[in-house]
Amino acid sequence: MSPAMLRIGLGHDSHRLGPGTSLVLGGVAIPHDRQALGHSDADVLLHAITDALLGAAALGDIGELFPDTDPANRGRDSAEMLRASLERVVAAGWRIVNLDCVIFAQRPKILPHRTAIRTRIAAVLSIDVGQIWLKAKTGEGVGPIGEEQAIAAECVVLIEKK
Ligand code: CDP
Ligand code: ZN
Repeated sequence: MSPAMLRIGLGHDSHRLGPGTSLVLGGVAIPHDRQALGHSDADVLLHAITDALLGAAALGDIGELFPDTDPANRGRDSAEMLRASLERVVAAGWRIVNLDCVIFAQRPKILPHRTAIRTRIAAVLSIDVGQIWLKAKTGEGVGPIGEEQAIAAECVVLIEKK
C-alpha cells in the first residue's frame, strides 16, 4: 500500500464593511447592520477557503481564476467560484481531508451560526460536516477589525492524493 500524498493550503481574505442588513459568511446570510463590500458577493470565508484549496493543489488563486476586472465576476456567487475551484483540484486527483477556518469580526457573534455555516460549506464541497471546523475572534475593539471597518477570514486545508 503506497502512502497517501498530503498537501496543506492556506487562504486569507479581508473585505471592507459598510452599512447593510446582512453579512454573507460561508454562503449563509446572517442578519446584521453591516455588510461586506466587494466586487463579488464579498463572502470573505468562501474566498479564504477557495484560496486555501487552490494553494494546496498549486493551481492558482481566486483573483487569477476570477479577475475582478471581468464584468462576469460582478456580484458573482462565491459558492459557484469555490465549486469551480474544487472541480479543478479534484480533476488533478486530490480530495479534501479537512478544513479549519477562523473569522475575524468584532460583531456579530458567529458561534450561534457555526453549524449552519459548516453545513453549507460541507454541501458546497461535497464533504462531511465533520471535516470542517470554524472559529471566530473579535478584534478586541481595536484596529480595522475591532472598529468594524473590516472583516477577515483564514482557512487551512489538508488534501490527499492516493
Ligand atoms: O477570548 P479571546 O480574546 O480569545 O477571544 P475573543 O475574540 O474575545 O472571542 C471570544 C469568543 O467569542 C470566541 O472564542 C468565539 O467563540 C466567540 N466569537 C464569536 O462567536 N463571534 C465573533 N465575531 C467573535 C468571537
Ligand atoms: Zn474576498
